[in-house]
Amino acid sequence: MKEINLTTKISVYPIGECSEIEKKLINEAKRVALAAYAPYSGFKVGAAVLLESGQIVTGNNQENAAYPSGLCAERTAIFYATANFPAQKVEAVAIAAFHNGEFTQDVIPPCGACRQVLLEVENRFKNSIKILMYSQKDVYVANSVRDLLPLSFGEEMLK
Ligand code: THU
Repeated sequence: MKEINLTTKISVYPIGECSEIEKKLINEAKRVALAAYAPYSGFKVGAAVLLESGQIVTGNNQENAAYPSGLCAERTAIFYATANFPAQKVEAVAIAAFHNGEFTQDVIPPCGACRQVLLEVENRFKNSIKILMYSQKDVYVANSVRDLLPLSFGEEMLK
């Protein structure tokens, strides 16, 4: 028997140490979180996607009475980005969540399905996507979706 250790790196920034564009992206994620449609969970998530042009597109979670028909903020935002700007690389995604009357004290990492979708976009454009996970305390930063999804399944396995 042998073991494989998969290591990953997450940087933790005080919000004040983020760059101006990162702060702007985070503020967009916070802004759009408040417009989420989350009557069932009360958990409002916002995602802001930075394109290579500098344009920012946003999305939030959209819930449904038939629960599985809803969609997370990250996929709402990233699918909007690739649907409307199919030639634009995605540079970064910021995520923020509002719950119980405040932005969360702990970061909200993307769910597994959103990680898989973000990985596809990273592979599609051959460009690492920086993931910024906001909380009131600090911001977790992953420099690639791969850091959030070790041992991932991707298109190369279908060849
Ligand atoms: N949700 C997101 O939008 N993104 C995440 O990263 C985690 C969960 C949504 C799905 C659902 O509408 C609500 O948050 C509670 O799970």
